[in-house]
Amino acid sequence: MPTPDDVDAFLTDTLVGSDPILDATLRAQSDAGLPAIEVAPLNAKFLHLLTRIAGARRVLEIGTLGGYSTIWFARAVGDAGRVVTIEAEARNAEIARGNLERAGVAQRVEVVVGRGADVLPSLEGGEPFDLVFIDADKESNTVYLDWAARLGRPGTVIVLDNVVRGGEVADAGTGDSKVRGARRGIEMLGADPRFDATALQTLDRKGWDGVAVAIVVDSAASGPT
Ligand code: DHB
Ligand code: MG
Repeated sequence: MPTPDDVDAFLTDTLVGSDPILDATLRAQSDAGLPAIEVAPLNAKFLHLLTRIAGARRVLEIGTLGGYSTIWFARAVGDAGRVVTIEAEARNAEIARGNLERAGVAQRVEVVVGRGADVLPSLEGGEPFDLVFIDADKESNTVYLDWAARLGRPGTVIVLDNVVRGGEVADAGTGDSKVRGARRGIEMLGADPRFDATALQTLDRKGWDGVAVAIVVDSAASGPT
């Protein structure tokens, strides 16, 4: 009986393939001692396709790590597009910048070092973002969702990573702060009239997890009935 890992391998080999630049990105990340918590290749391509489907030109990423997903976004927005990615750890940001240079997309990406809560207010007043990917400290999910709505516009796509966490998200009594962050993020997406959202469970080489996908709605207008 094939396992989920077998399925992941088949789907990844068939639909994503291999890419020496992305391989080098993950190697540089690993050599620098960063944790291997980047999105799985199938999920990265999902984000890339979603960016293209949305016709997004401006992408905001919260949580850069080594820049693996950042490269996928940068490739999706094209030459005239822009990715702003926020990373709390200066060392991670350095690794990411090297990876973005190697990938030939550094000129369309701005890596901002700082905690999201400190950096995000500085982005106010710019052009709205078309897509926001939240993949940072899970405890701050609600803060990041609030900023994603403020820095977006009706129609902006929001993706929130790691909302299932091995199923623990269904445990209302969890003592794990990251799981509590995932739960609060989902609850906010369900309750806040600025969002219309769903979530998908994923089972891949990173294990059992999931993503929430939302659209920013004009909360002054009525939604679909
Ligand atoms: C963790 C964070 C992530 O963004 C992820 O995709 C997997 C795990 C973590 O902090 O445990
Ligand atoms: Mg993640």
